[in-house]
Amino acid sequence: MMRSPGSMLGALLTVLFVATGAIAQMVGERVPELSGPPQEMGEVAAEPIPRWVVDDIRKERAYPDQPPIIPHSIEGYQLSVNTNRCLSCHKRELTQESGAPMISVTHYMTREGQMLADVSPRRYFCTACHVPQADVRPLVENTFKDMSEMGVKQAGSE
Ligand code: HEC
Ligand code: HEC
Repeated sequence: MMRSPGSMLGALLTVLFVATGAIAQMVGERVPELSGPPQEMGEVAAEPIPRWVVDDIRKERAYPDQPPIIPHSIEGYQLSVNTNRCLSCHKRELTQESGAPMISVTHYMTREGQMLADVSPRRYFCTACHVPQADVRPLVENTFKDMSEMGVKQAGSE
């Protein structure tokens, strides 16, 4: 059987995948569990549902190309192949009535930068990138530093 470079690459990627999985498991001890209780079939008390932040105040982005956080409730909004509730407020044609910010111009571009008349398929499932925030304690300590605090002189700051 001939071995194509493709299948070799595939095999290599599989090895890499398994290896990183093993490493992740070793490091796993130090971070809180995200995948549920140790006994997968056991019964555990359900955590209370977090309180979503729904104050309608657009949140500052941590960096310019961060997908902005959703500042409103999305409870019950249908987002499926044929129906996109988000676009019923956020698409260009409907923003005047809804008062919602238009989806970014990048959402109308193909990955080659070609402009489209409608939202690009790769931007259709909004919640793959945009998420609401819950009022909860962080699972791990966050040492993120805003880049404006890293000694960069900001344009127009004098
Ligand atoms: C009923 C109209 C409406 C619907 C439906 C809606 N939005 Fe919004 N959205 C708004 C409005 C208005 C704002 C401006 C802030 C506010 O009033 O909450 C907003 C703000 C946002 C923002 C923040 C933008 C920024 O620059 O900070 C994001 C992200 C967002 N919405 C995503 C979504 C997603 C994803 C969905 C679907 C799951 C959705 N919205 C459904 C009206 C809507
Ligand atoms: C692949 C990730 C991704 C998907 C999917 C996506 N967005 Fe975004 N969105 C972003 C990023 C990143 C930004 C900020 C940078 C930019 O403008 O591209 C953004 C910006 C926005 C903004 C702010 C626009 C502005 O000018 O302030 C809104 C509103 C928004 N998105 C709504 C939506 C809605 C509604 C959908 C679903 C139809 C959606 N997005 C799908 C990544 C995504």
